[in-house]
Amino acid sequence: MNKNVKWYLVITISVILLIIYAGYFFTDIGRGLRGDSIEANEPLNNNEKESGNKLPIPPLLKDKNPEENKAEFDLKVQYGRKEFIPGYETNTLGYNGDYLGPIIKVNKGDDVKINISNALDEPTTVHWHGLEIPGEMDGGPHQVIDPNTTWEPYFTIDQPAATLWYHPHLLHKTGEQVYKGLAGLIYIEDEASKKLKIPKDHGVNDIPLIIQDKRFTDNGNISYDLSMRDLMNGFLGDTVLINGAINPELDVKNEVIRLRLLNGSNARSYEFNFSDDTKFYQIASDGGFLEKSIEMNKVSLAPAERAEILIDLSDYNVGDKISLRASNYKLMTINIVENSNKTTDIPKDLVEIIDYNREEVVRKRAFVMSGMGPMVTINGKQMNMDRIDEKLNLGELEEWIISNESAGMGMMNSIPHPFHVHGVQFQVIERDGKMPPLNERGWKDTVMVDNGEKVNILAKFRKKGLFMYHCHILEHEDSGMMGQFLVE
Ligand code: C2O
Ligand code: CU
Ligand code: CU
Repeated sequence: MNKNVKWYLVITISVILLIIYAGYFFTDIGRGLRGDSIEANEPLNNNEKESGNKLPIPPLLKDKNPEENKAEFDLKVQYGRKEFIPGYETNTLGYNGDYLGPIIKVNKGDDVKINISNALDEPTTVHWHGLEIPGEMDGGPHQVIDPNTTWEPYFTIDQPAATLWYHPHLLHKTGEQVYKGLAGLIYIEDEASKKLKIPKDHGVNDIPLIIQDKRFTDNGNISYDLSMRDLMNGFLGDTVLINGAINPELDVKNEVIRLRLLNGSNARSYEFNFSDDTKFYQIASDGGFLEKSIEMNKVSLAPAERAEILIDLSDYNVGDKISLRASNYKLMTINIVENSNKTTDIPKDLVEIIDYNREEVVRKRAFVMSGMGPMVTINGKQMNMDRIDEKLNLGELEEWIISNESAGMGMMNSIPHPFHVHGVQFQVIERDGKMPPLNERGWKDTVMVDNGEKVNILAKFRKKGLFMYHCHILEHEDSGMMGQFLVE
């Protein structure tokens, strides 16, 4: 191309982008970009009506290997059809079913093999979010499963009890595949979790909750057509689903119940709370139990973050109900339908977590998240599969300093970015120079980094291979807000 023509193009494109930018900034969409809450930016439909939907409970996946300390599972990635809104069916994706996937439950120390067959006519990957396993088994963008082929990763569970999850990680396609329904939970159990006196009856008093927002078309389809606004903020739906149901109902006894919350949304963050300001106790963060249960009346989760909480319903009577909410929006009704004969207490002490010693840090690295829309970057770079951004040594303690500096463009503030690291559970030691809140002092694999904020984490990488770090707003990830590190 002629040089002058090239410059002409560059200038024209810049001017167009500037006009779009100004347009967005001065409209109400700009509110979100200037850092107001995402919920204010795009409100949710309030689910006041009783839906009559019972909360679907994802089943526990059958372990095909009868031997102790070994487990083998089959997963099939498939197309599905689902009626989210009565009378309307929509195309979906699922693992072993129409939508979402079964729970893979394993024990610490298990040798696990998983046979994943891809029945789609497009490639996918299956990433084990939160597992500490070698890079080749991680299921990131390099472990592509082509249509009609099988991928059989195997690994040993080498980390404490936790609620983790799995989802696709195909380059540029993660947002769409997760949105259409590809996500499932992983439970790890260990000696400590077996000993703890907490609810453990799956679907009865130990309840998985996968929370995701969707945008329905007039005919009940879940559409994933990204507007400019979606590229900016990430895709925000207007209706929240729990385990695939709108405004579901959960029937329980008046006893202590355990909710395992996963924010499986593409981009939306939630501040969960209960009606009547009911207090609860957080007992686990992303990577496992906290040292002590923490009394709270709300908990915020960014995309990909998890929290396990206990609620004591023993003061309620049969016929009472409370609702789980996100800010002021009702997400689920909990009906107390039966008297319990159990008297459970909320345990105060949970597990012991040995804090990393900052003095033993071998290396510090900075990760600066910046840019906007499709130009979001980490350290000024966008994802390149052929480039290794960071090289690490196995077993060394590192301090990563993660900041969000996308507020640089004129008056524009950035939106918060949830930073996720593969292959490791880390400890958050500082938020803007201060101690992090109590519920961030356990194991984490994803951490929210707000406008202009700086978060320091300590991490020891115990598995070899190539891994990703990225923003877990899936549209940002798909735009290239991701990098690669090699552990040797
Ligand atoms: Cu939840 Cu890179 O992933
Ligand atoms: Cu991950
Ligand atoms: Cu982001």
